[in-house]
Amino acid sequence: MAMLGENATEAIAFVLDLSELKRAEAQARQLQLELAHANRVTAIGQLAASISHEMKQPIAATAVNASTGLRCLELDPPNVGEARQAFDRIVRDTRRAGEVIKRIHGLVNKAPTTNEILQINEAIREVLALASSEANRNGVSVRLQLAEALPPIKGDRVQVQQVMLNLIINAIDAMSTVDDGTRELTISTAINEPGAVLVAVRDCGPGIAPENTERLFEPFYTTKASGMGMGLSICHSIVKAHGGRLWASANVPRGALFQFTLPVNPAVSA
Ligand SMILES: Nc1ncnc2c1ncn2[C@@H]1O[C@H](COP(=O)(O)OP(=O)(O)OP(=O)(O)O)[C@@H](O)[C@H]1O
Ligand SMILES: [Mg+2]
Repeated sequence: MAMLGENATEAIAFVLDLSELKRAEAQARQLQLELAHANRVTAIGQLAASISHEMKQPIAATAVNASTGLRCLELDPPNVGEARQAFDRIVRDTRRAGEVIKRIHGLVNKAPTTNEILQINEAIREVLALASSEANRNGVSVRLQLAEALPPIKGDRVQVQQVMLNLIINAIDAMSTVDDGTRELTISTAINEPGAVLVAVRDCGPGIAPENTERLFEPFYTTKASGMGMGLSICHSIVKAHGGRLWASANVPRGALFQFTLPVNPAVSA
């Protein structure tokens, strides 16, 4: 049997090391995906109480409208016009409830895909539709300042919405710790330097101590009793993977300001 020379042995060892490295990398990627998924489920879970409360209303209305519709049809002669109106209301309410469920499903189950052509304003509106009942419940009013005619960005809808969801929940959490003053959440979009869109999330909470603005993004850094401290760390990785930047600063006159950029989709802007 031919003996392998020292160089060949080294080469084999190197290849083995490489495949080991690749395996470790794949494992790390998988772990990151699972962590991000767990974070989305936790975030949605935090909204679940408010959302299910909100969903009671269309369900109750549907029950009432169904009875009304049936009663109208049982009349002699049947009042078809009234029945039709009742059934129209059922269609509207159930459609709206179905939309909410679909969005939750999308965020909880959908595996991230990359490189969608994404309208950031639309993605933000969808997240807000899920988070607005939680904002209401905490006495937070939401202001939207979305720039018109923004170019689409390139990215993954689920991931970008996850960033928004985390920032919005953090802002609501922060403001629910302060008793005085208005609780206002402002979300704005703008065109940043050419080629990037800027999203800003401002709150009127206690704000962030300057010495903490970097630590916030570290994994497991949390000041909340039930927090995992993963939210901002995941937001940071998502924005970075999209070629953008996420940072925190002080809001004026008080509270925190989180901003991130996302590159414009070159396929569309070209
Ligand atoms: N808008 C904000 N205002 C003030 N402090 C904030 C704000 N957003 C985040 N923080 C601080 O940063 C910490 C880390 O936030 P992060 O979202 O990473 O974790 P978390 O919200 O504590 O837990 P979770 O993993 O559930 O998101 C928070 O615990 C809080 O102390
Ligand atoms: Mg958080």
